[in-house]
Amino acid sequence: MEKIIDKILFGGDYNPEQWPEDVWQEDMRMLKDAGVDIVTLNVFSWAMLQPNEFFYDFRKLDRIMQCVTEAGMKVCMATSTAAHPAWMARRHPDILRVDFDGHKRKFGSRHNSCPSSPTYRKYSKRLAGKLARRYRKYDNIVAWHVSNEYSTDCYCERCERNFRKWLKRRYGSLEALNAAWNTAFWGHKFYSWKEIVAPNNLSEHFGYTRTCFQGISLDYRRFQSDMLLRDYRTEYNAIKKYTPNIPVTTNFMGYHYQIDQKAWAPYLDFAAWDNYPACDSPEWSVAMWHDITRGLKGGRSFWLMEQTPSVSNWNRYCALKRPGEMRELSYQAVAHGADTVMFFQMRRSIGACEKYHGAIIDHVGTENTRVFKECAELGEELKNLKAVTLAARTNSRVAILFDWENWWAISYSAGPTTELNYPEEVKKFYRAFYELHIPVDMIGCEDDLSKYDLVIAPVLYMIKGNYDVKLNDFVKRGGHLVTTFFSGYVNENDLVTLGGYPGKLRDILGIWVEEIDALPAEKENNFTWEGLDYSAKIVCDLLHPETAEVLASYNNDFYAGMPALTVNEYGDGKAYYIATSSDPDFYYNFFERMAVELNIPSLGEAPKDVELTIRCKGSNNVIFALNHSFEHKCFKIWSDATDLLTGEEFRANEEIWIDNMGVRVLKTR
Ligand code: GLA
Ligand code: ZN
Repeated sequence: MEKIIDKILFGGDYNPEQWPEDVWQEDMRMLKDAGVDIVTLNVFSWAMLQPNEFFYDFRKLDRIMQCVTEAGMKVCMATSTAAHPAWMARRHPDILRVDFDGHKRKFGSRHNSCPSSPTYRKYSKRLAGKLARRYRKYDNIVAWHVSNEYSTDCYCERCERNFRKWLKRRYGSLEALNAAWNTAFWGHKFYSWKEIVAPNNLSEHFGYTRTCFQGISLDYRRFQSDMLLRDYRTEYNAIKKYTPNIPVTTNFMGYHYQIDQKAWAPYLDFAAWDNYPACDSPEWSVAMWHDITRGLKGGRSFWLMEQTPSVSNWNRYCALKRPGEMRELSYQAVAHGADTVMFFQMRRSIGACEKYHGAIIDHVGTENTRVFKECAELGEELKNLKAVTLAARTNSRVAILFDWENWWAISYSAGPTTELNYPEEVKKFYRAFYELHIPVDMIGCEDDLSKYDLVIAPVLYMIKGNYDVKLNDFVKRGGHLVTTFFSGYVNENDLVTLGGYPGKLRDILGIWVEEIDALPAEKENNFTWEGLDYSAKIVCDLLHPETAEVLASYNNDFYAGMPALTVNEYGDGKAYYIATSSDPDFYYNFFERMAVELNIPSLGEAPKDVELTIRCKGSNNVIFALNHSFEHKCFKIWSDATDLLTGEEFRANEEIWIDNMGVRVLKTR
């Protein structure tokens, strides 16, 4: 039986091991006053729990558990394995990583273990199992949190050996591997598996994403993600042995390149992420990462595992969240699918690099701070919302594809331009729907397309396996597909599909791309669509329509008159091709028109900086309105509704007032 959770959980990382015990009681009193009902414990306590090779000491954690349990807190129990103890590094140097420049690291920092270290695997598994066995009697543990923000790469000789094994499993033979990597180029043919080395600054690379052999680098990325996943699964299984019914997860970092989060998702019981937007991160960018996280497990709700209540100390400029901003960003998470609102951290530490990071309880040690009061007000509000949004879904008719392997491949590509940034291109599409107030699902290649009317696959450079067939079926059956420049070029090994770009998408799109022009940042072309001019930036494809109809053409340069936007009727559907990267107004106008054509309704009428989202559960629909601006605004929705935060009633189409940084949670009738 999963533990019963009947409200949005509120709390976060709590590190009492850094404090004398008399502080703990005071913490419990204050945190309860702030409405906190969940603490994440034990994230970085490995050295405390295992002082040496043979001895484990759980006494302090026992007392912490007793303290938080008596205070009525739920617990998200971490396994502490994101930072190994110093003695372990001294006695077992195999646990230390080798970095991208080939330096063997010494003890220090965190996220510091080699993913294939036998010492790490042995002791992390043992610790996870011991924790699960020891604390299984606590029915307030509602989730397990394995390690923390998995991230770092290793280039040691053991990882190199494991890479060879991984390659043997993937390719079967050296012939297949030589073909997949096109090793005839620069005389790289491998005659023995032992000749294969890790790609880094000592071998194929001249910078983190600049490589001479894309195939090798891409496989190493996959391999490292897989190795970390293997470590995660080792702990997962050790935990499940003792507490099979408690869900297990790890916290991702959202905009994070190194882990293929979608490939990990099947092994998480629920998805979770840490949201740390910079003070100038646009709201749609945060929204997109929430939606990506919701998409990891096919639209199921997720946990907001961390955010700062006020300030992150590691930014160049540590700007404060303005009054109301923390609340508004917390609701934004819930609006996109979060079932928790959690923070790093409960109490500010006194030493080392996070002592100036925001916390509910500041160094002053009292409740009498702006941040504490704002947290306490939010804590109170969340109690009143009860379970209405828990496990609710968002039923979108539009999907945007986001694929990590495609991201890696684009980042490694030598050409057409280093200005091309995959997530930034995806965001341009996401932003249009955000501003149109139309909900979107962020999907991966494995997800079913049949429930969508519109699928957008920006810069689908890599066509993995038969993904073209899936797109083909989707369009033939009446779906609308939109893709862009630099799509369909290569297969999953980064080998070019011959016969003209966009390769396997050529039929669906009805075009042939002959060349691709990259524009320096200060230069742009433009095109005219429906009487308006829009910029053409970063890259411009030079293409010929085959069966496609031309909707817009370039205005300048030697390719003036060549198509910039095409549509191809294919089966019962249509496939659009946007041959360049444009400005927000283009995507907005283009998709506004398409939403009308496809009869996809918006959630309401609102200014662009008032975000609208929906979460649905049974017959309950809740529309969230979030005013990201510092001015009061008005908006409308299409049905009668009650604001669950204020009790106000509104009629359909009535002008609804929303405060600056304000939130409305509207249960529709
Ligand atoms: C991450 C980590 C936390 C903490 C915060 C600070 O999300 O998981 O341990 O370091 O960053 O922002
Ligand atoms: Zn290693």
